[in-house]
Amino acid sequence: MPDWQWWQRGVVYQIYPRSFQDTNGDGIGDLRGICERLDYLVWLGVDAIWISPIYPSPMADFGYDIADYCNVDPIFGTLGDFDRLIAEAHGRGLKVILDFVPNHTSDQHPWFRESRSSRTSPKRDWYIWRDPKPDGSPPNNWISNFGGPAWEWDEATGQYYYHAFLKEQPDLNWRNPEVRAAMHDVLRFWLRRSVDGFRVDVIWHLMKDPEFRDNPPNPGFQPGRPEIDRLLQIHSTDQPDVHEIIAGMRRVLEEFEDRVLIGEIYLPIERLVAYYGQDLAGAHLPFNFQLIHTAWNVRELSTLIDEYEAALPEGGWPNWVLGNHDQPRIAARVGAAQARVAAMLLLTLRGTPTMYYGDEIGLAKVEIPDDAVQDPWEKNEPGLGLGRDPERTPMQWDSSPHAGFTTGKPWLPLSPTYAECNVERMRSDPRSILSLYRRLLALRRERKALSVGSYRSIGVFGTAFAYERTLGAERLIVVLNLTHEPHLVDLSSQGRLRRVLSTCLDGEGDLVEGTLDLRGDEGVILESVG
Ligand code: GLC
Repeated sequence: MPDWQWWQRGVVYQIYPRSFQDTNGDGIGDLRGICERLDYLVWLGVDAIWISPIYPSPMADFGYDIADYCNVDPIFGTLGDFDRLIAEAHGRGLKVILDFVPNHTSDQHPWFRESRSSRTSPKRDWYIWRDPKPDGSPPNNWISNFGGPAWEWDEATGQYYYHAFLKEQPDLNWRNPEVRAAMHDVLRFWLRRSVDGFRVDVIWHLMKDPEFRDNPPNPGFQPGRPEIDRLLQIHSTDQPDVHEIIAGMRRVLEEFEDRVLIGEIYLPIERLVAYYGQDLAGAHLPFNFQLIHTAWNVRELSTLIDEYEAALPEGGWPNWVLGNHDQPRIAARVGAAQARVAAMLLLTLRGTPTMYYGDEIGLAKVEIPDDAVQDPWEKNEPGLGLGRDPERTPMQWDSSPHAGFTTGKPWLPLSPTYAECNVERMRSDPRSILSLYRRLLALRRERKALSVGSYRSIGVFGTAFAYERTLGAERLIVVLNLTHEPHLVDLSSQGRLRRVLSTCLDGEGDLVEGTLDLRGDEGVILESVG
């Protein structure tokens, strides 16, 4: 049997550090807070945590604008706190993955300040500076992902600089070997501090068209969509030479043992799988966000899984993501009942699942009053529903004031449902979604077929679909009902089966002969009993 890596067997849990646990009363989570909650994560049964950026930052994009890659922002603590967190996590068998943001820095980063200081600065070429067109307008038509032009005029030096996101986030020039070397050293800095890997921010953005050609208009653009969708990003992202850059990062990780490289990539499957790299020398896990964008019905989902499985390169390890700090939460997208089915789907598909903090308690969309909005995207393009604050609200630990998250004023409002929707209440309720997540995680750990076994689609049965996971003699079948209506599923061709786990908790242990009586919103894991 192959020797599986921890990042193949395990489950990743994303922590948005501002919102996990505050320990100093400033209303913003911190590293000590994460440390305090490690026992919870062990109890829950995850294997690794990925922490969104913790580095010194003016927080224009809440840490995705980094002013120093090799330190910790005082809001989150100190390097000493970080070292302690690593030691405490490792002591509990948990891996720690950091967010690496190589596409852009903060405009307050000393590199950019230097670059901006004059046209002859030794760091001028570390960023992307271009002359205006003869009429003074920007060098091309590229748009910022947060709306508005992607070029910012610098009066003092008479050139524009490029920023794929906020103007406070100037893009680095990865064609410059000095930039590559400096960023590789950043990776080594954290790898030596024993981090187990990186989630690399917008990795498909790193290289731009060398000629900076205009992006063509998007014929499918519809009003109400973000401005960035007006153009097809064919020259500003996903360039062929990005793969060599990723392979370079991977080589740095290979200097150390057992580290993982995860890439954030929003691309359709056929382009996404190229990020495994030639000879699998790219990202170990190019994040697969398809579950976030695919319509929640059996046809679309079962087709998606088959297409993704078929598109993977030989030896490329799959992965699945249900939500993150940039996307509406799963419970907001599919509702509370289906969020349970989604949990079973995520934790029984082949490949590495990534969970998002709070999804395990069924946290749904939290309404953000206008005067509480934090997200710069919402501020730039208000009223389109683009804001990411609703999925970044504080974790709800108990029924005490501010849900045990902070003794101060939380930086974003809590869900008004927190008195019921919290870890303490839910962990003693066997029917809660938290208990379901915990059982699924435990089963996945116990039954290796669920994590590393092969995948085979069994088929679509009306409103339900079924698939099989097999490893050696272990064979498990997962049947998921994606609607509120009950459904009879004919499993007579599957041999004798026993119900192992149901999202409704009913009939566990019962034998299933022929037909499975599936309730509305029910997912069932069955085992083959010969
Ligand atoms: C990624 C991050 C997002 C951030 C953006 C710019 O998409 O996940 O939160 O705003 O990159 O760094």
